Amino acid sequence: MVASATIGVFDSGVGGLSVLHHIRRTLPEARLIYVADSAHVPYGDKPAAYIEQRSHALARFLISQGADALVIACNTATAVAAASLRAQFSLPIIGMEPAVKPAVAVSKSGVVGVLATTGTLESARFAALLERYGEEVEIITQGCPGLVEQVEQGDLHGAKTRELITRYTAPLLARGADTLILGCTHYPFLAPLIRELVGSEITLVDTGAAVARQLQRRLPVERICRATDEVDATAQVQIYTSGDIAQAQPTLAKLWHEPAKLRGLPSQYC
Ligand code: DGL
Repeated sequence: MVASATIGVFDSGVGGLSVLHHIRRTLPEARLIYVADSAHVPYGDKPAAYIEQRSHALARFLISQGADALVIACNTATAVAAASLRAQFSLPIIGMEPAVKPAVAVSKSGVVGVLATTGTLESARFAALLERYGEEVEIITQGCPGLVEQVEQGDLHGAKTRELITRYTAPLLARGADTLILGCTHYPFLAPLIRELVGSEITLVDTGAAVARQLQRRLPVERICRATDEVDATAQVQIYTSGDIAQAQPTLAKLWHEPAKLRGLPSQYC
């Protein structure tokens, strides 16, 4: 029998499930293993060395599970750890960054707002992006402390979430932004509420679909169809958390609508 590649995906928490949705659609045969590093969320305000150490632990776990490729479904971890992960491990590693290039291409007002974590906005990698595209349009950045926590709690529509989104988007809209980049993988889950609060004329841009396409291009052909005895449709998506399983379950049920086994990450990787 034939099975597809095994893809390892990680994020600080449940945010990367927004990317996993796109991967699932692009590679429906693939075996997907996702790790939510919920015991350590949020990454956005933690020191770079801490995020790097967590990223390496999660990569080691996913490789031990047979991953053929890794997806860093986290802008913050990509900014901080993608280079050292690629130096350490030889499998394809796909990262992500705020979609500045596509946003610059669609903006008509010439003002683009970036919603992201402080860690992403302060990174050298993001500075390089700004340098590259910042001359073509005005790019305004906005750190969004607290938004990741709202998504982790499964609060996608509540009063506090609304208040935070209004607080973070208002200055960008006031300065004429017509395009907002969702520069953190947690934020696509808030897209319906952001859309409601900013209005339908504002374009929202996220990177999940582009990451899935990039992954498809990078997979070694021989790994896309390899022989195996193991065919278990319900085991196709495995989700691990470094946090508390009972706490993670209700949020997972809101964000991931297919059967998936939720398990605890083995303690040596926590
Ligand atoms: N979802 C992540 C990102 O894309 C990290 C958010 C966080 O833990 O602060 O940046």
